[in-house]
Amino acid sequence: VVIRSAALADAEALAGLSGQLGYPCTGEQVAARLSALLDDAERTVLVAEVGRGLAGFIDVHVQRVVEADPYAEVGGLVVDERLRHSGLGAALLAAAAAWGRERGLGVMWIRANLARRGSHELYRRVGCSRVKDQRVYGYTL
Ligand SMILES: CC(C)(COP(=O)(O)OP(=O)(O)OC[C@H]1O[C@@H](n2cnc3c(N)ncnc32)[C@H](O)[C@@H]1OP(=O)(O)O)[C@@H](O)C(=O)NCCC(=O)NCCS
Repeated sequence: VVIRSAALADAEALAGLSGQLGYPCTGEQVAARLSALLDDAERTVLVAEVGRGLAGFIDVHVQRVVEADPYAEVGGLVVDERLRHSGLGAALLAAAAAWGRERGLGVMWIRANLARRGSHELYRRVGCSRVKDQRVYGYTL
C-alpha cells in the first residue's frame, strides 16, 4: 500500500469511491473539483494505492475560524468496499494526521454521520475521543 497525494489522473477512480461514500459523481466533476483543490496549499486529498488501483481516499484541510486556532478537518474518508477491514482506513487517518501535524496543527476534527456506524468504531480504535453530536442544516443559496 502506498499513500500519496491525489493527482488529476485519479479523478475517475475518486468518482467511483465518492459514489461508495454516497455522493455519486462523474470523473469530470471530480477533476474540476480536484484541480481547484490541488492549487490550495491548505488542502490535500490523500489516496491509498494498492497495486495499480485506488483503494480509498481521505480529504483533509486547514480550517481557520475567529474563535479557535487553526485546526485540521477531515472532509471525506472512504475505503473501497472490497478492501475494507485490512487497516487502510486507519492508515489514511494516520497520514492525514501527519499532514496536519507537519503544519503545526494541534487537532484534527472528524465529523461523522451517526448512520455511518462502522466509522465510529474505527475512530475510537485509532484513539479519537467523541466530542459532541451535531445537526447539519443546509441554507439554499
Ligand atoms: C469507515 C471505513 C473508511 C473504514 O475503512 P477500513 O479500511 O475498513 O478501516 P480499517 O480496516 O482501518 O479498520 C476497520 C475497523 O473499523 C471498524 N469498522 C469499520 N467498518 C465497520 C462496520 N461496518 N461495522 C463495525 N465496525 C466497523 C471496526 O473497528 C474495524 O475493525 P475490524 O476490521 O477488526 O472489524 C470504511 O468502512 C468505509 O469506507 N465506510 C463507508 C464510508 C464511511 O463511513 N466513511 C466515513 C465517513 S465519516
